Amino acid sequence: MITKDTIAKIIDTAQIEQVVGDFVNLKKAGSLLKGNCPFHQEKTPSFVVNPNKNIFKCFGCGKGGDSLTFIMEHEKFSFPEALRFLANKYHIEIEETQTTVEDKQIQDEKESLIIALGYAAKFYQTQLTETEDGIAIGLSYFKERGFLDETLNTFQLGYSQDSYDAFYKQAIKDGYNPEILLKAGLIKEKAGKYYDFFRDRVMFPIFNVSGKVVAFGGRMLKNKNPDSAAYNPKYINTAETDVYHKGQILYGISHAKNDIRKEDVCYLVEGYTDVISLYQAGIRNVVASSGTALTKEQVQLIRRFTQNIVILYDGDAAGVKAALRGLDIVLEQGLNVRLVLLPDGDDPDSFVKKNGTDETLDFIAKNQQDFILFKATQGIKDIGNDPIKKSEVIRDIVQSIALVQDNIKRQLYVKHCADIVGVPENILVNEANKIRVQQFKKSKEIDDTHAQALTEHVKVEEVHHQSIDKTPQLYYQEKDIIRILLEFGDKEMDKEQLVSEYVIFELVDIEFKNNVFGRIMQLFLEAYQNNTPFEDFKNLNNVDDKEVKDALIDLLSSPYELSPNWFDKHEIVVKDANRTYKTDVISVMSRFKYFKLMELIKILDDKIKNAETSGNFEEMTAFLMKKMSLMETRKQLVKEIQTVTHPH
Ligand code: UTP
Ligand code: MN
Repeated sequence: MITKDTIAKIIDTAQIEQVVGDFVNLKKAGSLLKGNCPFHQEKTPSFVVNPNKNIFKCFGCGKGGDSLTFIMEHEKFSFPEALRFLANKYHIEIEETQTTVEDKQIQDEKESLIIALGYAAKFYQTQLTETEDGIAIGLSYFKERGFLDETLNTFQLGYSQDSYDAFYKQAIKDGYNPEILLKAGLIKEKAGKYYDFFRDRVMFPIFNVSGKVVAFGGRMLKNKNPDSAAYNPKYINTAETDVYHKGQILYGISHAKNDIRKEDVCYLVEGYTDVISLYQAGIRNVVASSGTALTKEQVQLIRRFTQNIVILYDGDAAGVKAALRGLDIVLEQGLNVRLVLLPDGDDPDSFVKKNGTDETLDFIAKNQQDFILFKATQGIKDIGNDPIKKSEVIRDIVQSIALVQDNIKRQLYVKHCADIVGVPENILVNEANKIRVQQFKKSKEIDDTHAQALTEHVKVEEVHHQSIDKTPQLYYQEKDIIRILLEFGDKEMDKEQLVSEYVIFELVDIEFKNNVFGRIMQLFLEAYQNNTPFEDFKNLNNVDDKEVKDALIDLLSSPYELSPNWFDKHEIVVKDANRTYKTDVISVMSRFKYFKLMELIKILDDKIKNAETSGNFEEMTAFLMKKMSLMETRKQLVKEIQTVTHPH
């Protein structure tokens, strides 16, 4: 057991901004620090670190606590694991009370794997620099590749000798348990005999984000069995273990993370040696995907430190293909991604060795190209006039464009790509919209499950509330929305989108209370997705539902009019001369949101009162916080309405 004194020391020493800072890209915001929450998906930062109080809190998902809880949550550590992690970070020696033999035996397994892997790294390092074979074969290989001693040390490069079980024997001698060595992927078993997994290879330890060795890549040495690549691949890597999940780790991340943050860009390369050579040349914000397609977890790992990725790949066909495989994942995570193709046949390792640091950086700066445009150009290159192939390519490009979250950026992409592939812009827009509506719905589902913790009670109450309310306010707001859609739907909201698109996108996740209006909204959405001409819709050609048809006829015969009362009541002056259909659209939307908000605030007020009387202050604080943020939104809405009506 770890002593109380040690626990206290760890808690006192751990600085929340440093602990969190290893995992989240934090920016100063007054006396606080802000960043994207690592516990839920978000695009605008609601994750706050308070260095004075030594705590963190996410206003999006509600998670909060101190350094220890952060590490436990984030790394999925147990309490003692988290303590050991922090003790290690701050070089605090852990004092333990007497442990029983049994305690020692059930010592946490992950920790034992890490210890064994660290031991192995040391072993292979020693083999490289202190044995005859190591020096003659391994070290000379690395020297030939231009790796300096300092680099060998930094990346703890090593050598495994051409022997059946040299490592295994030494490890047993040093007291390691075969079970653990097996589980760490260091040895294998055959017919009751253990043998080394890595033999006759130069060794690249793979580190996790906090710099612990969790796996190895072993490279075969030159000119051995060149014809049997299938049986003797260039690299063999540790298989998945309890401490190594290939898809969650990027080679070099522990060495690169500070520089990635500093430079605010992460270079992504393919191989171990690319990372090492660039690092040696002083370009340290670089990680490798290790020859496989990027995973979501890997992109999220990068996102802790920067929003910008530059992919540096070999310009040959395989390199290009590999690069493209990662694109959508990166876009989906909201990162900016650019591509640098190196001259045919060069990888970053050979390029930097040939050209030096300055020229490499210069080349990167001058040859960065936008990835989506690259994809469009590339896609259209070889398809000639085959219409089927062409439509496949277009769909593929649109799929990527649809992942771009920023509206303006996305519209620019549509424009450029339409030019490149030679189709009218609106075809791309329609395709992208369909995809986006689907995505939006999907992401809402995910978001909802995360946000549930805080809003669950509110939602239940809301339903309850609604049934008591005989004339729900929102009836008129919902009706107005349908009216403006019918009336102005095919007019331009701005340069790039119609009123119908604007409204549908703003409301796609909101359910209408009035069932008939809700169904009409659904029809609008379908019409939009299917690209049905607006006129057809208005002419009720495809409407079978009688209730809906009646309501539509009613709405079409009583067009939208701004009711002045509402603005009076809220002390907002409307100058008639400034009114346009656009201001009408915005004020209808704002009012709808306003009433939705007010309803929520009312419910929250009740909850706050209840929590207060029952003495549940923690809950009360949570509700108060939620209310504060709603009030803030309300303030912004009112401001929005005012600027619309006073457009100076
Ligand atoms: P490369 O073939 O580009 O390797 O594969 P490299 O790192 O540049 O190695 P050198 O320069 O030939 O020594 C890129 C990455 O793909 C993975 C490794 O992670 C490698 O770094 N890979 C490649 C394997 O895992 N197994 C293989 O057989 C080959
Ligand atoms: Mn290489």
